[in-house]
Amino acid sequence: MSELENIAKKMLAKGKGILAADESTGTMTKRLSSVNVESTSENRLKFREILFSAESMKENIGGVILYDETIKQKTSSGKSIPELIKSFGSIPGIKVDTGAKKLAGSPEEKITEGLDGLRERLEEYYKLGARFTKWRAVYNISQKHPSELAIKSNAHALARYASLVQESKMVPIVEPEVLMDGDHNIKKCYEITSKVLKECYKELKLHNVNLKGTILKPNMILPGNQSKSKSNASEIAKMTIKCLKENVPSEVPGIAFLSGGQTEIEATQNLNEINKINDTNFVMSFSYGRALQQSALKNWGKNITDINNTQKIFNHRSKMNGLSASAKWSMDLEKQLTA
Ligand code: 13P
Repeated sequence: MSELENIAKKMLAKGKGILAADESTGTMTKRLSSVNVESTSENRLKFREILFSAESMKENIGGVILYDETIKQKTSSGKSIPELIKSFGSIPGIKVDTGAKKLAGSPEEKITEGLDGLRERLEEYYKLGARFTKWRAVYNISQKHPSELAIKSNAHALARYASLVQESKMVPIVEPEVLMDGDHNIKKCYEITSKVLKECYKELKLHNVNLKGTILKPNMILPGNQSKSKSNASEIAKMTIKCLKENVPSEVPGIAFLSGGQTEIEATQNLNEINKINDTNFVMSFSYGRALQQSALKNWGKNITDINNTQKIFNHRSKMNGLSASAKWSMDLEKQLTA
């Protein structure tokens, strides 16, 4: 097995998933101000260090996606953040896109930027300890969108990114996120996600990306958050598996979903249902940001010296998602273990 395949497998080993802690400074400032904490570089590090030193890092977190600021920071004991993550047997990774910008030619849509100078930045991140990377493309669903232009240009950028990352001996996480904003039904999400994934894999193949050394980070197939029609976890799981089976080549070893605005429990329950009926060869796990951090952040905002309880809450969420990655989660366990 190649080194890239090894890394991808290790990140999504049994009962493990990925912690997405790569919020840009702007996004992290919003998250911190929602719990009345000032967004200083010191506070951003403090919260993240609490998560990265929690017990569940060993059992349930196979990789951590960092932001440029964090990968260069040192912990209170002088270790670098990547060293801290590695000390738990987890793998440090880095977000390398520079954000979604207005798409010229279709200005209501977004194109993700960050290809200029990427080869040189990748070299630096590798030296800092990163062994995988992330690039996120976003697509909005509306009557007219996403346009063919948005689908094609984002797929092209994702493929150029992935190819450069493998050249730098790291595993690219390919993240085409169809947003859940809107009043569309689950069928529409399925149709659009299918189109988006098809185009992404067409481009990844054209760019000679070794799919065995990649991880896909997709949205689950969900109705829009303003939709009148609701779907239960079983329908979501069936549609999600159908979409991935039809559009993702079988060489891809692992799929790590984003949470995308689902509540913590929804994200856990839906992943559990997906794994209950997973009849593919893909490992299906999580790469959650909000669905792993929300409750921990809320607690921390009440008292930023309360490391113990903040870690307990984070450990619980990581453990619940670890169980759902093996189809072993239940609402009963959720309650028993919280009590
Ligand atoms: P959420 O799980 O909060 O959607 O974040 C995942 C992520 O990394 C988005 O790029």
